[in-house]
Amino acid sequence: MIKVLFVCLGNICRSPMAQFVFKQMVEERGLSDQFEIDSAATEGYNEMCHAGIHYGTREILTAMHVPFEEHYSRRIRPSDYAYYDYILAMDDSNIEDIGSIVGMDTDNKIHRLLDFANKPRNIKDPWYTGNFDETYWDIVEGCDAFLKHLKKEV
Ligand code: 4NP
Repeated sequence: MIKVLFVCLGNICRSPMAQFVFKQMVEERGLSDQFEIDSAATEGYNEMCHAGIHYGTREILTAMHVPFEEHYSRRIRPSDYAYYDYILAMDDSNIEDIGSIVGMDTDNKIHRLLDFANKPRNIKDPWYTGNFDETYWDIVEGCDAFLKHLKKEV
């Protein structure tokens, strides 16, 4: 079982999008029983509001025929570091914030999702850009590259 936690700032736009895009990819490859997939935030404010998935993320997932369930934002916990095999962030500031919550990445579990792609880079936050299409295609590229990286393992 490979346990993957996608992480962004608020856990309502990018990381739930990555969670459900990746879930669909592994389902399509018949690999669902080999993965546990979830997402979390670095900030706690949306957890306090019990915030669901942003409508922009819902809209693009629906348009792209990516199935999703309800998901409520939660903040990453120090114990997530031991539990998950991969903690996949969207940008550099997420990496910094995750480090301040879970401590040193002694097992090399924390990466940016697009570090697995040919052109490693941040995934911009659509909360600020309003561009959920761009986020979606970056996430597809990252999830695809990450699965290719895992190919030897699964
Ligand atoms: P996300 O985007 O990190 O991709 O979920 C954001 C969602 C909410 C906020 C910021 C970014 N916020 O300030 O509430």
